[in-house]
Amino acid sequence: MSVLYRSDAPRAAAWAAYFAEHAPDLDFRVWPDAGDLSEVEYLIAWQAPGEFLAALPRLKVLFSSGAGVDHIDFSAVPPHVPVVRMVEPGIIDGMVEYVTFAVLALHRDAFDYVAAQSKGTWAQSEVWPASTRTIGVMGLGVLGRAVLERLATFGFRLRGWNRSRRTLPGVESFAGAEELPVFLRGCDLLICLLPLTDQTQGILNANLFGALRPGAAVINVGRGGHLVQADLLAALDSGQLSRAVLDVTDPEPLPSGHRLWTHPRVFLTPHIASMTQPDTAAPVLLENIRRSQRGEPLSDVIDRSQGY
Ligand code: GLV
Repeated sequence: MSVLYRSDAPRAAAWAAYFAEHAPDLDFRVWPDAGDLSEVEYLIAWQAPGEFLAALPRLKVLFSSGAGVDHIDFSAVPPHVPVVRMVEPGIIDGMVEYVTFAVLALHRDAFDYVAAQSKGTWAQSEVWPASTRTIGVMGLGVLGRAVLERLATFGFRLRGWNRSRRTLPGVESFAGAEELPVFLRGCDLLICLLPLTDQTQGILNANLFGALRPGAAVINVGRGGHLVQADLLAALDSGQLSRAVLDVTDPEPLPSGHRLWTHPRVFLTPHIASMTQPDTAAPVLLENIRRSQRGEPLSDVIDRSQGY
C-alpha cells in the first residue's frame, strides 16, 4: 500500500514523520525517491502532469496538497480516481488570520500610516467604528465561512456571495449572477475567496469595481486569474478603489518591473496567505486514506464538472 508525496519539499519530512508514527502499515514515499510507480495508490501532489499520472496505473485517490485544485488538469486524471482538495484546520486558520490582518489594516488605515510615518507626517484620519463598514466575501466555502465568522466578532456589517445560496447567521446572503450587483452595491471592502473556474476567471474587473462604493478596497486571496490587473490599476488610479491587498498574481512570481510591485496603494504578498500545515493536514488526509481502504465515501472530493 503506497502513498507518494510530490509537493512542497521543505514540509515533506513532517508528512513522512507523521505517517511513520501513525500509519506504519503504509509505505510513505517522498518524490523523487518514489520507487516503483506502479505500486502507488495514493498521491499527494500540487502539480500532477498527465505523463506522470499515466505512470500510476494503481492510483486510487489524488489528493491536492492545497485548498485549490485549479492547477490540476482533470482530463489527465482517470475518471474513477477522485480528486480531494485540502480542507484542514491549519489552512483555514491561516486564511482567517491573513484576511483579518488585511481587513483590520484597511479598516484602521494602517497602510496610510506606514506611508505617513515614512514622510514624518503626523496626520490623524477619522476613526470609523467597524459597524459603519460593509464587508463582502465572494465565495462561501469553508474558507469564506470561517473568515466571516471571525470578522463578525469585530462587529462589521457582513455580506456573502456564492454561486448557489448559502445562509449564514449574521451575514446578508446573495447568490448567483443576478444578485451580484446588489451584493456589490454598498460594499466598502471586498474579499475574493472564490475557486478559479471558467466562470470566475477575470471576475474582479472594471464592471465589478464600478459597482462597489467609490473608494472601496479589494483583497484577493483567491487566484491571480480572478483579477484583471489592468482594470485594478485603472480603478486605483481613478480613485474608484482606494487600495488593494493581493496575495496572488498572474503570473506567479510577479515579473520584476510590473506596476503592481510599486503601486503606492497595492500591498502585495507572495502567495503566503495560508499554507497547508503538515501537523494538522496529515491526520485529515490519513483519515481519508483509511476511508478509501474501508470502501467508505471520502471527504472533500471535488466535483469535476464544477471545477472545485
Ligand atoms: C493555496 O493557494 C492553496 O490552494 O492551498
